[in-house]
Amino acid sequence: MKEYRKAGVIGYPISHSLSPRIHNYWLQQYHIKASYEAIPVKPEDLKTFLGKMAKEEFAGVNVTIPHKEAAFNLVKTDRHTQNIGAVNTIIVRDEQIIGMNTDVYGFIHSLLEKFEDKELKAISRKTLIMGAGGATRAVCTALQPYSGEITIVNRTREKAEKLASHMRAMEMENIAVSDWHNLENIMSDATLLVNTTSLGMKGQPSLDISLKTLPATAVVCDIVYNPLPTQLLKQAEARGNRTIDGLGMLLYQAQSAFAEWFDVVPEVTPELRHYVAEALL
Ligand code: ATR
Repeated sequence: MKEYRKAGVIGYPISHSLSPRIHNYWLQQYHIKASYEAIPVKPEDLKTFLGKMAKEEFAGVNVTIPHKEAAFNLVKTDRHTQNIGAVNTIIVRDEQIIGMNTDVYGFIHSLLEKFEDKELKAISRKTLIMGAGGATRAVCTALQPYSGEITIVNRTREKAEKLASHMRAMEMENIAVSDWHNLENIMSDATLLVNTTSLGMKGQPSLDISLKTLPATAVVCDIVYNPLPTQLLKQAEARGNRTIDGLGMLLYQAQSAFAEWFDVVPEVTPELRHYVAEALL
């Protein structure tokens, strides 16, 4: 392994990121001599920053708002990342700057933590996704090997249509679109319900939906992790549905990035979960 020993998260403005807390926890745990910092990078400085990373001994960085799409257009990427069109992790390898999207890994591993492969196939037989933003692409890509059918509903239907046709062009044929107001109807035979909208997040409007038609056997997943649990997950738990919160996706996407940078697959433990959740209070 090379001696690149700096990492961080770049964004602008960069304030409430939990990533330093997660990565510094692991750096300590595995006695790795490296730093992980929140680094403010203005949009006009992104290209220069990426160009300097190899010389400045970076192992890599996470990429957050507003750089995810811009970074995608500036670096080499793999097929998964091309499906998504956004980069959340940069790796410096042999002086090359490579872009990845570890949200795909993050989302699927938050499910695989609870369910075995075969069970996950059954659970995602009829998946209903709310939202059509950047995160939705990662969720669709992650579920593709498992899902029988995916239906997307979004406040702005055109965005869902656009996303579905993009995904179909990437050979994901099993994606349909329906209307937001049709939610209760299509929920009645869903096996997995995923919220990828920002609704229910601290400071955002609440996600006001009824789960009354959702089968009791369905799994409900919310990628929002602040608050924990969200109103949606509380509602689901109260009626006996199994739930997956968004903290798992956050921790597993970080695991994948850390492994790429430092050649150690760090453990996602209940202690780490607790330590990160504490910062949300
Ligand atoms: P990200 O890239 O993190 O997924 P995003 O692209 O801003 O974030 O997407 C946010 C998602 O939340 C979108 O699906 C958005 O719906 P629109 O496409 O109609 O904008 C959804 N969303 C945000 N606020 C909403 C609201 N008040 N009601 C319904 N959906 C909302």
